[in-house]
Amino acid sequence: MSAQRTLSIIKPDATARNVTGSINARFEQAELRIIAQKKIQLTKAQAEKFYEVHSDKAFYDSLCEYMSSAPVVVQVLYGDNAVAKNREIMGATNPANAEIGTIRRDFGQSIEHNAVHGSDCVENAEIEIAFFFSGLELVG
Ligand code: CMP
Repeated sequence: MSAQRTLSIIKPDATARNVTGSINARFEQAELRIIAQKKIQLTKAQAEKFYEVHSDKAFYDSLCEYMSSAPVVVQVLYGDNAVAKNREIMGATNPANAEIGTIRRDFGQSIEHNAVHGSDCVENAEIEIAFFFSGLELVG
């Protein structure tokens, strides 16, 4: 196994419900280290840029409106196999389909309000990390 970094976002539904710490505990229980973290509020234009890959989808405008509607916590997780491990503990995109005990099952409310985002592969993780963080902010 190799150590990797992955980009995580705790979404507006989760920050609004004050469960940031509970979600961070899940990462730490899975031996993922939070090596960078900040709370920000995206503009709609920034959300559109981040989710550009979904720009042809019917849910794109609603997703970007939602992601810029309230603060999010953006973070870099680090550890063995971090990309796949984070996706495993997040669970399926739709909380209704996510395994019991996953973050989205326990904290998500709908496919859009699904508590967390995580990078889908190592290459995209590096792109997504660079979207939010400078190299100086990555201390782990
Ligand atoms: P995320 O992992 O942040 O990546 C893209 C997001 O789009 C996804 O989580 C969901 O929140 C959202 N999404 C995916 N499919 C749908 C859908 N069918 N309807 C609404 N939102 C969706």
